[in-house]
Amino acid sequence: MVDRRSTVALALVFLLFHSTLEQQGPLSSLTEFAALFELRSSLGLRSRDWPRKVDPCSQWNGVQCRNGRVVGINISGFRRTRIGSLNPQFAVDALGNFTLLESFNASRFALPGPIPDWFGQRIAALQVLDLRSCSIAGAIPSSMGNLFNLTSMYLSDNSLTGIIPSSMGQLSRLSVLDLSQNSLTGSIPISFSSLGNISFLDISSNYLSGSIPPAIGSLSNLQFLNLSGNKLSSSVPSELGNLTSLVELDLSLNTLSGSLPLDLRGLRNLQRMEIGNNSLVGLLPDNLFPSPNRLQVIGLSHNVFTGALPDVLGLMPRLRFLDVSSNNFTGDLVNLTLNANATGAVFNLSQNMFYGALPSIIRRFSFIDLSSNYLEGMVPSDALSNASLDSNCLQNVSNQRTLVECASFYTERGMIFDNFGLPNATQPPPAPETSGKSHRKVIILASVLGGFVFIVLLVILLILLLLCIRRRGAMNQRGNGVGPVPAGGSPPPAGVSINFSSLGETFTYQQLLQATSDFSDINLIKHGHSGDLFRGILEGGVAVVVKRINLQSSRKEGYLLELDFFSKISHTRLVPLLGHCLENDNEKFLVYKYMPNGDLSNALYRKTNLEDDSLQSLDWITRLKIAIGAAEGLSYLHHECTPPLVHRDVQASSILLDDKFEVRLGSLSEVCAQEGDTHQSMITRLLRLPQTSEQGSSGSPTAICAYDVYCFGKVLLGLVTGKLGMSASNDVEMKEFLEQTLPYISIYDKELVTKILDPSLIVDEDLLEEVWAMAIVAKSCLNPKPSRRPLMRYILKALENPWKVVREENSGSARLRTTSSRGSWNAALFGSWRSSSDVVAVPTTSTTRLEGGSSLKRSTTTGSQGSGQNGGGDLSSSHRRQSKEIFPEPSEVQNVERQDEV
Ligand SMILES: *[C@@H]1O[C@H](CO)[C@@H](O)[C@H](O)[C@H]1NC(C)=O
Ligand SMILES: *[C@@H]1O[C@H](CO)[C@@H](O)[C@H](O)[C@H]1NC(C)=O
Ligand SMILES: *[C@@H]1O[C@H](CO)[C@@H](O)[C@H](O)[C@H]1NC(C)=O
Ligand SMILES: *[C@@H]1O[C@H](CO)[C@@H](O)[C@H](O)[C@H]1NC(C)=O
Ligand SMILES: *[C@@H]1O[C@H](CO)[C@@H](O)[C@H](O)[C@H]1NC(C)=O
Ligand SMILES: *[C@@H]1O[C@H](CO)[C@@H](O)[C@H](O)[C@H]1NC(C)=O
Ligand SMILES: *[C@@H]1O[C@H](CO)[C@@H](O)[C@H](O)[C@H]1NC(C)=O
Ligand SMILES: *[C@@H]1O[C@H](CO)[C@@H](O)[C@H](O)[C@H]1NC(C)=O
Repeated sequence: MVDRRSTVALALVFLLFHSTLEQQGPLSSLTEFAALFELRSSLGLRSRDWPRKVDPCSQWNGVQCRNGRVVGINISGFRRTRIGSLNPQFAVDALGNFTLLESFNASRFALPGPIPDWFGQRIAALQVLDLRSCSIAGAIPSSMGNLFNLTSMYLSDNSLTGIIPSSMGQLSRLSVLDLSQNSLTGSIPISFSSLGNISFLDISSNYLSGSIPPAIGSLSNLQFLNLSGNKLSSSVPSELGNLTSLVELDLSLNTLSGSLPLDLRGLRNLQRMEIGNNSLVGLLPDNLFPSPNRLQVIGLSHNVFTGALPDVLGLMPRLRFLDVSSNNFTGDLVNLTLNANATGAVFNLSQNMFYGALPSIIRRFSFIDLSSNYLEGMVPSDALSNASLDSNCLQNVSNQRTLVECASFYTERGMIFDNFGLPNATQPPPAPETSGKSHRKVIILASVLGGFVFIVLLVILLILLLLCIRRRGAMNQRGNGVGPVPAGGSPPPAGVSINFSSLGETFTYQQLLQATSDFSDINLIKHGHSGDLFRGILEGGVAVVVKRINLQSSRKEGYLLELDFFSKISHTRLVPLLGHCLENDNEKFLVYKYMPNGDLSNALYRKTNLEDDSLQSLDWITRLKIAIGAAEGLSYLHHECTPPLVHRDVQASSILLDDKFEVRLGSLSEVCAQEGDTHQSMITRLLRLPQTSEQGSSGSPTAICAYDVYCFGKVLLGLVTGKLGMSASNDVEMKEFLEQTLPYISIYDKELVTKILDPSLIVDEDLLEEVWAMAIVAKSCLNPKPSRRPLMRYILKALENPWKVVREENSGSARLRTTSSRGSWNAALFGSWRSSSDVVAVPTTSTTRLEGGSSLKRSTTTGSQGSGQNGGGDLSSSHRRQSKEIFPEPSEVQNVERQDEV
């Protein structure tokens, strides 16, 4: 770089100022003089910093001499010349000529490229090497381990890669080693244990892996140890407790695991301990903080520490920063003491499971974060300015947890939640009547009940008699119209003798109070027509739905019928009954499994996020799965139970969905045997008589399977059109809806169905065929003539094989042979199409509306009339005629405003 001529020129200049400035101790070595100029040119230093024609020792910035020899070069923060900055490089070869150089500082001066291998060989006298933020790349040459006189090495904030050479353990004089903020890999060399003089070791923010070598514990002079931000794993070695000089320890942001060493008593000088963001577990022993009167900073956040905060925290007079956030710490904070000098202190206790009242010390701090815990009680008004209290269970502040969360947290731990300070609202509602009136009512009730019991006894006798007579002819009667299919399963007997052993757990009233936070309004799901539904959480954390049946306003035997049903019937497609509580006189409780996805009426469209109102609708595959699931449930009731059971409340809100969108049919309080099939329905009818007679003329949904089919047709149509609300709407709206919709369902024109398709559905050609098939099935279910509606098991088959519905019908090819002895399910399905006109007329019926008391069912079995009379010809089996039953049209019974329920 420096040619011969310029060397001569330099020598002349050197001699010139050497003679004039002798007394100031100018540079005495021509070699070093030339080397400085070589460095000046290779690094592109500006003459402003290193001017020509002056003595470098006295005039050049950052050049330090002793006895005319260069001992220190400091170009930290220098800027290169314009030319020099064009191609900056790690070009410091001339450094090798400074045999006495003790310190080289080039921090913040760009030296892109690797540290040359000779570096450790030729600058042997080097004591301080500072190359922070120099854009150095490549590996640390192992020759660096030969800089035996090195006391400080700063290589942080570069792009160093590769492993830390174990030769660096030879640097026995090293007191400061900073390799932080690089991309070093491999593990911490065990040889580091030989760095006997080290007091500052920072290897943070690299990619070091493996465990922390226990040998580090032998570095008795270490005052500062920072290993944070690596990938160090396994546990914290107990040998760290030997670091008696340690003042600051930072092991945060690794993947350390296991519990902390129980004894760190040796760390008696520790002032700062950061071990956050690891996977450390377990309790914090008091002696983890061996120098309570010195500690100022403790960071433990984002681990899985459990148990209470150690009392020793209260003995730390200098503590100014405590971060224990995002752990599993728990315990009552009311007696928390932080014996700290409050001004400027920051305490973060958020995201844990602390409970109890706010700590009384809260006002002493400049700021304390207690958010996302389970603290309860009142908040003093002056505490709000210096505390974050969100997501707790506190009373007079906003953004708190829900009652369910709070109550279940407290109950799970055997504590009593203060219920947001609200009174316990579980007393049975006081009787509205005055005592005189209620007295009269009791007498009336007693006499009614007396008569009622008498009638029941009479009827049972009668029925037993009838039964004997009917048994003989029973086989002949079956198989007519929508007749039942013989199958396994015991017949549900009269709702009197219930086998409670098969009805899940017997809950105490107290348990249910706890589970539902005293039936608070927050937990109310809805007022169902057979009882109010509350969500709750049992002691074991099981989510449940509790139905509270008020016997003063509901049918008395309703819950018994439902219990009876559950005692006989269990099926994966029915909502599981977990238990009951019958200990109260006026209220009975049934406990069901909680269905995470609610019911179909609210699951079809879900809010995707809470901020905007955008809705996400169920995709077609899920809709079809739900239709099949519901059909399976109904098919079970209709065809696998003897006698056939009619659900009588088929609508979107009765189709409950578990976490995987599997159907569990709910609203089972109306289930009864198909009319005319057994004595059961007779009992049901008679049992209902006393109450409904008060209500005047009313009729409950008629118990024939074809009624369920009709209602299911509405659900299917809702799945296709997205208008599920129709499945619970009244008959005028329904009539209009059907008139507008059904003409677009034709077995001859697939495309027509797109006109009524739910606009939020995205279906391709293949799926459209399934949609079309479901629409066709829906339409056949909605046939006004009950006898023409398909049986549920054929509907199930059709939904399971949707393409066969359309393809077979369209091509007119051979009928699909199925297991049914009656021939093709397809034929059964299309029976309704052939014999009725393509456009199904909507049944027009006179309706008998309830006057008041809308939650009650019409249950009279006589006096319903409708156009079904015309179509019921081939349905009416002999005994139906006997009982003078006339099928009401399905739409008729929908005018009772029904609340959905489990
Ligand atoms: C610096 O040292 C190298 C080898 O150690 C030598 O080749 C070079 O000539 C020296 N530079 C000067 C200016 O003496
Ligand atoms: C090196 O120079 C920088 C910037 O001028 C200065 O801050 C630093 O103290 C110097 N270091 C030494 C060791 O002289
Ligand atoms: C290292 O330092 C010692 C004492 O401080 C000194 O005697 C020795 O010469 C130095 N080594 C080199 C290579 O300069
Ligand atoms: C270092 O720690 C270990 C375990 O804590 C202990 O057994 C050993 O005696 C300690 N060594 C020294 C030199 O204190
Ligand atoms: C606050 O700090 C001062 C000086 O560090 C100390 O004397 C005093 O005891 C501390 N206060 C408490 C409450 O510990
Ligand atoms: C922390 O506590 C919660 C609630 O008790 C528990 O679900 C979770 O598993 C705990 N975390 C660990 C890692 O133990
Ligand atoms: C808090 O301290 C008081 C008084 O020392 C004591 O009675 C109470 O039991 C303590 N509460 C808790 C939860 O430790
Ligand atoms: C609520 O009831 C529980 C026990 O049932 C009782 O300990 C608690 O004090 C009551 N809370 C209120 C606010 O009345």
